[in-house]
Amino acid sequence: MSLNILRIDASARAEGSVSRDLNDKIVGRYIAAGDVNVVRRDLAQSLPLLDAAWIGANFTAEADRTVEQREKLAVSDALVGELTAADIVVIGLPIYNFGVPAALKAWIDLVARAGVTFTYSADGPVGLLEGKRAIISVASGGTEVGSDIDFATGYMRHVLKFIGITDVIFVSADRLAIDPEGTLAAANDAVAALPIAA
Ligand SMILES: Cc1cc2nc3c(=O)[nH]c(=O)nc-3n(C[C@H](O)[C@H](O)[C@H](O)COP(=O)(O)O)c2cc1C
Repeated sequence: MSLNILRIDASARAEGSVSRDLNDKIVGRYIAAGDVNVVRRDLAQSLPLLDAAWIGANFTAEADRTVEQREKLAVSDALVGELTAADIVVIGLPIYNFGVPAALKAWIDLVARAGVTFTYSADGPVGLLEGKRAIISVASGGTEVGSDIDFATGYMRHVLKFIGITDVIFVSADRLAIDPEGTLAAANDAVAALPIAA
């Protein structure tokens, strides 16, 4: 049975992007290991931002939605469908201004859907996605992953857990402006060490 991979790239750069290069290597390891089906979502192609009509449509019961409201949710439905179908989600995460790129935040806003990817119980929020692994390729110039000024990786771990993805692996090429050779070597070692069954 083939493994479904959803690859998401958030770097605005098509050329010279470290996070895209790491994503290439990660997906390449899966392809070399067996039967995989890869779906790509390039966030350099902009996604719509949430607006009042979108929120109104999302909070209207599915059976009661108008044609316009269904159209308003169509992109979100497509993104949720890609995510739901995936066994592995590979996400390129360049750190922009100490956080995630706006394009990636737009994707998150479109896939975090009450009643679809999360719900609330008496004990608090419950993620509705199950059995998925996320692998996140992080690239930064000077921000150290895990430091007090890294508002990207902890946020990603939290928001993925919120929708039910708790198995999250980071492959980090951080501080590229400070120690490019060291951090790229460590990131390549991390790609080689990923638990990918042959
Ligand atoms: C708009 C913008 C904002 C950035 N902000 C930060 C930052 O806050 N911290 C940091 O360490 N690097 C920052 N960088 C550097 C990028 O994280 C770094 O160039 C990284 O390699 C980008 O990922 P990419 O190679 O996949 O494009 C920024 C780069 C850009 C273009």
